[in-house]
Parts: sequence; C-alpha cells; structure tokens
Amino acid sequence: MSRLTVNERPVEFDLDPRIPLLYALREAMNLTGTKACGGGPACSGACMVLVDGSALRSCAITLAEAEGRIVTTIEGLSRDRSHPVQQAMVAQAAIQCGYCTPGMVMSAAALLQRNPAPTRKDIEEAVPNLCRCGVYPRLVKAIEQAGRVAQRQERISAAPAPGISPEDAARAVPALRVLKDE
Ligand code: FES
Repeated sequence: MSRLTVNERPVEFDLDPRIPLLYALREAMNLTGTKACGGGPACSGACMVLVDGSALRSCAITLAEAEGRIVTTIEGLSRDRSHPVQQAMVAQAAIQCGYCTPGMVMSAAALLQRNPAPTRKDIEEAVPNLCRCGVYPRLVKAIEQAGRVAQRQERISAAPAPGISPEDAARAVPALRVLKDE
C-alpha cells in the first residue's frame, strides 16, 4: 500500500509502487485533468502536479517516491476555476487546444506561490512546459497578471484582455470547462 495525500484527502493505493504517480492519479482516482504526454524526454509537462508545493512531472515520480507526500492536481487547485492563474489564462486567452493547460497552470501556481512578481526569465525557468499550439506570449502575460492579482494589485474582470477577439475568448472558456469535466 502506498499512502499519500491527494487534494487534501488521505488515500491508499493498492498498486505496484513502481508505477508513475501519473497513472495512479488518472486511472485509480479518475483525476484526468493531469495529462499523459509521452513521458521521458518526450514529456511536455502536461502531467505536472504539485508535490509538497513544488511542481513535479507526475510521469517522473513513482508511487513509492510519492509515499507520505502531499499531492495537488489541477482538480484540487481550485474547484471553481478561481485560482488567479486560471482566471488570468482565460482573461488573456492563453489557451488553444487546452491539452497543456493543466500542467501550465500547476507550474505557474507553484512559481507564484514562492515568487508573486516573477521576471520573464523567472517564468521561462520555472515553467518548462511545452505548448504545441504556441500560447507562450499570452501565457507569460497571464502569469504576470496572476502575480499582480495574487498581490492584490489588480482584479480580473470577466472580460478578456484588450486585443483578444470575442472568438478567441469564446474558445478559451469552453476549453477550460472541458478540461475540468473530463
Ligand atoms: S498544447 Fe494546445 S494550448 Fe498548449
């Protein structure tokens, strides 16, 4: 048995402790917001979760290595999409297909937890996730905005940022909902 805490719930996994945490979360707990993305050198970071508050690739840590640790997935970060990173990513339309989004959000959330005013270099270093749709410029803006929100220097309105077309915004919001409901 592997015992750990997932999204504030103590859980026990009766699984081979050598399997990646990713598969325990997705297959045993149905936490499918954490995405499988190839593993090893092909890993894009879509499987990123928080482990004891740090962003880690869940394909790269085994259940045995996660024993006794506190794991947070995208489902546990906020149940109503109210985390500043989630709000800012919608506001900046930093989402296209959405596959990379949960991992991006987890990396950014971990960064802002320790550094709410990151430089662009800080963001590049702390968010190694790959986005095959190329949302990077908007992602950086979203992380900077989320940092300002976290510091209460700014509020995010429901409206997307200037320069984002209504079509982009309309695409962005359902994408996030689909990820949450999957
Ligand atoms: S991979 Fe499609 S939005 Fe990043």
